[in-house]
Amino acid sequence: MSARTAIVTGGIGGLGTAICQQLAQAGRQVIAADLDSRSDRIAAFVAEQSGYAGKIQFEAVNVAHFASCQALLERVNARYGAVDILVNAAGITRDSSLRKMSEQQWQEVIGVNLDGVFNMCRQVVDGMCERGFGRIVNISSINGQTGAFGQTNYAASKAGLHGFTMALARELARKGVTVNSIAPGYCRTPMVEAIPQAIRDQIISQIPVGRIGEPSDIARAVEFLTADAAGYLTGVLLPVNGGGFMSF
Ligand code: CAA
Ligand code: NAP
Repeated sequence: MSARTAIVTGGIGGLGTAICQQLAQAGRQVIAADLDSRSDRIAAFVAEQSGYAGKIQFEAVNVAHFASCQALLERVNARYGAVDILVNAAGITRDSSLRKMSEQQWQEVIGVNLDGVFNMCRQVVDGMCERGFGRIVNISSINGQTGAFGQTNYAASKAGLHGFTMALARELARKGVTVNSIAPGYCRTPMVEAIPQAIRDQIISQIPVGRIGEPSDIARAVEFLTADAAGYLTGVLLPVNGGGFMSF
């Protein structure tokens, strides 16, 4: 059987890069799909993946735009074949207390974190159902489970994301397609490095395992949920948070 093809949105970001590498190591053909706004960063990413023997390729997308996602899928289908695995990892923060939040800060976060997942899933589900195999993983957040000061927009998007996951999981369950969410805790990526130092130190000091998460911690969970053998796992929210939020 030829290698399964995976798209990872936000693929050149902190978590996205680790996810691409983990899936490539597992034998997948991986498309790192991300904004094409920073050519220096893309060049650095492409150079960094040279050890993966062509198993990780960059393609441009803006997940907030349906037509951009449609165009991405046309290019990927033509160049690499059908898509078996979709990891929705593109995400942004625009933190502000609600009293100060602009409509733009609200719309931008919902547009990428939530609309973006609809825009991408809509492109791949028909093909996955026809072929009787698919794995979709949506990257939610611990802050979607707990709420966080300054993140009404982000928490709403990440909680809404898991509602989307559960609904789509039900729709696709008999078609060989699984849909799951991962809720990472705070991980060592540019998104978290942007938190003011004093607040970040305080957050990390409260993580039960005593350290910040590494992108590889999340990537391992993505590999687990996207394995061919993971067909009985669907509609799940898998927390990977060092014990930062425990629930049942
Ligand atoms: N809890 C309770 N009160 C808080 C607070 C908090 N975390 N942060 C600020 N406040 C209080 C202040 O003490 C102040 O109180 P007073 O009015 O009584 O003096 C008041 O709220 C200030 O409110 P403002 O709206 O003026 O807040 P601000 O503009 O100074 O800052 C903020 C708000 C931008 C959200 C800032 O607090 C901040 O950057 N917080 C960090 C946000 C954060 O951690 N984001 C996570 C990003 S990473 C991520 O999201 C990844 C993931 O999924 C885990
Ligand atoms: P990151 O390093 O900022 O990576 C996110 C990537 O998504 C970036 O490359 C970003 O590009 C890209 N992106 C932004 N808007 C996009 C769009 N419209 N279309 C396509 N790509 C877009 O963040 P991260 O920490 O890896 O986060 C990855 C995912 O995990 C996000 O969904 C985030 O919410 C979630 N998460 C992260 C943490 C954590 O602690 N890091 C915890 C819980 C959940 P630009 O850099 O050019 O904007």
